[in-house]
Amino acid sequence: MKDSYILAIESSCDDTGASVFKNEILLSNIVAGQDVHSEWGGVVPELASRAHHQHIIPVVDKAIKTARIDKDQINAIAFTRGPGLMGPLLVGTQFAKAFALANDIPLIEVNHMQAHVMAHFIEDPKPKLPFLCLTASGGHTQIVLVEGPLKTKLIGQTRDDAAGEAFDKSAKLLGLGYPGGPKIDQWGKKGNIRFPFPEPNVAGYDFSFSGLKTAIMYFIRDELEKDPGFIQNNLADLCASIQNRIVSILLNKLKRASKDLGIKEIAIAGGVSANSRFRELLEEYGKKYEWNTYSPRFQFCTDNAAMIGITAYYKYLNKEFTDLSITPSARLKL
Ligand code: KG4
Ligand code: ZN
Repeated sequence: MKDSYILAIESSCDDTGASVFKNEILLSNIVAGQDVHSEWGGVVPELASRAHHQHIIPVVDKAIKTARIDKDQINAIAFTRGPGLMGPLLVGTQFAKAFALANDIPLIEVNHMQAHVMAHFIEDPKPKLPFLCLTASGGHTQIVLVEGPLKTKLIGQTRDDAAGEAFDKSAKLLGLGYPGGPKIDQWGKKGNIRFPFPEPNVAGYDFSFSGLKTAIMYFIRDELEKDPGFIQNNLADLCASIQNRIVSILLNKLKRASKDLGIKEIAIAGGVSANSRFRELLEEYGKKYEWNTYSPRFQFCTDNAAMIGITAYYKYLNKEFTDLSITPSARLKL
């Protein structure tokens, strides 16, 4: 079969990404972040849309140049259809449609949450099939049974907040600003796990993080009444304790799913999988329960277009193309 060159676009939240694949080989992966949101304490959708609009052409241009290919060699263009913020998704979708029309090439839609899982197909060694993947991002927390490339089945998810949200909201309570996950991670590395936060009792493979958020909020409020300097004096230990609880909730559910389904190939994905304590505890669980564990390289954990490109490659092989009437979907399901 002839080589395929696929250009992929990611624009679901606050990072503008473009990647180029030659078959399943990643040739370039460019991401432009957006600093405009930090002063607002969270992503402002309108500002994100404008920043995507500014970044998309230079990011695509750089991805094509870094890949050392000619634009005319591209056989297909892929984009994130959802889930995500509507304005940002519209920018990526519209760019991809225009590129497909102008170059007369097929258009491939990609589900962002499936792409986080598919990031494992860029890596070597890849998890052996079937495997379980725990995907934890800013808006979703899912346990997915992966039976093949694109064969992903949702078996558990959060009933309220996502794990990334638990990180971001905790960081806000501690006055650490946005994005909170990486900040809690940095502080937590220097601290000890000594504050006992509760683990919710949720049936099956579903998650709940809103009770933990409330428990952290009341704990900090009560301690601040006794000592106004409580946060400053205990910041590293607070971060270590909070992140340890969030990731142990995730891993205990994975443990249950692994035991019930008899699957010991265990992967993590999504922005939260960049967390150092999560990766460390995954190794510990792996040793204890005889799992083979897989964490993507950091650039494939947080939002990136490489994961969109690898997903698109498998869709290209199946000729799963979409037509130019496609529209984005903010709540696209896995
Ligand atoms: O997958 P992602 O980049 O974007 C979404 O699809 O939402 O995930 C973003 C989430 C944010 O909540 C961010 O705080 C969290 O991932 N995150 C982390 C770390 N890096 C990113 N959480 C904990 N530790 C980290 N090192
Ligand atoms: Zn994501």
